[in-house]
Amino acid sequence: MDLYEYQARDMFESYGVPVLPGIVADTPEEVRAAAEKLGGTVVVKAQVKAGGRGKAGGVKVAHNPADAEEAAKGIFGLDIKGHIVRRVMVAAGARIEREFYFSVLLDRANRSYLSLASVEGGMEIEILAVEKPEALARIEIDPVAGIDLEKAKQIAAAGGFPDDLIEKVAPVIERLWWVYRDEDATLVEVNPLVLTESGEVIALDGKVTLDENAEFRHENHAALAEAGDIDPLEAKAKASNLNYVKLDGQVGIIGNGAGLVMSTLDVVSYAGEKHGGVKPANFLDIGGGASAEVMAAGLDVILGDPQVKSVFVNVFGGITACDAVANGIVGALGKLGDTATKPLVVRLDGNNVDEGRAILAEAAHPLVTVVDTMDAAADKAAELANA
Ligand SMILES: Nc1ncnc2c1ncn2[C@@H]1O[C@H](COP(=O)(O)OP(=O)(O)O)[C@@H](O)[C@H]1O
Ligand SMILES: [Mg+2]
Repeated sequence: MDLYEYQARDMFESYGVPVLPGIVADTPEEVRAAAEKLGGTVVVKAQVKAGGRGKAGGVKVAHNPADAEEAAKGIFGLDIKGHIVRRVMVAAGARIEREFYFSVLLDRANRSYLSLASVEGGMEIEILAVEKPEALARIEIDPVAGIDLEKAKQIAAAGGFPDDLIEKVAPVIERLWWVYRDEDATLVEVNPLVLTESGEVIALDGKVTLDENAEFRHENHAALAEAGDIDPLEAKAKASNLNYVKLDGQVGIIGNGAGLVMSTLDVVSYAGEKHGGVKPANFLDIGGGASAEVMAAGLDVILGDPQVKSVFVNVFGGITACDAVANGIVGALGKLGDTATKPLVVRLDGNNVDEGRAILAEAAHPLVTVVDTMDAAADKAAELANA
């Protein structure tokens, strides 16, 4: 699980890593209030789980509260690598002298931890690694020994930090290691770690990835994950224990099993090429037990997406047989009543397929079209989405 920058900032602070004051805001008015509270120059920063926010226009400097509010208006709603900005952090502005790079991460290939450090920070690490590989030090970290002050100094020296800076940076590196170790992270990255004009070393950006397998021993991690669910449809799906991912297209997709849903995405994209370029609107796996309740919850989520024009229900009956699924669909449509308004294409196959199709035929719901094969059903769903 990735954290938002503001969550990483708070976590850093609790470990004594130097950070700047920052206040989270969800509206331009809140941004103005936050800027008033902080005083002086502030930086309005988009909170999305993607890098390169600066380049995408998601990080703006403002010299007074009114400017901060204006800057925020340009940042809310911005699409940064497919993530819409719904929240920003208003951070105190730093007077930057130099920008550095530091990270520690899980090195799966070598079954170890790895630290990366460079006195040349600020630019994206992928670019630095290609353009100036000699400027990026890679130091293996023994997972048992970790990073003590001595090791931190070695890392800074390897990263090309001059002597006087090594002394200043090493304690910060040591504390970032504590975050990595004690929070069971798989990545702690600070880019940039800065030296200010007044000589302080401060973590100005933070990226933290937590190991979900270790969630059981961190009571606070579940709350960090929830704070991310501000997309109302994703929150709704999660509350019903559904595996749902929102995509950009127009055909809502419900299937049982991740493999079947993935191939459904492919056939719908392919069929969509003939029908105005329509694409899948989401990924929704209702899993093994496709009861009426689960089907209703799934349909409810998908029909709540205004981008959806048609829905393709693609189910392969296994342990949950097709007749149970068909009853689930009929029951779900009954439950949803008038709120269900978009056409549904249903393809059933597998265990008790004849019984399942008979149930749908008998119900003869006006929104439902039953199609026997996956390709033909995808074609029908794409056609309806384009109508
Ligand atoms: N609080 C701040 N004060 C001054 N400059 C900042 C501040 N936060 C970020 N910046 C500047 O903006 C750049 C991009 O911000 P950063 O937080 O690294 O976002 P991203 O890595 O997503 O582009 C930084 O390299 C830094 O130069
Ligand atoms: Mg950065």
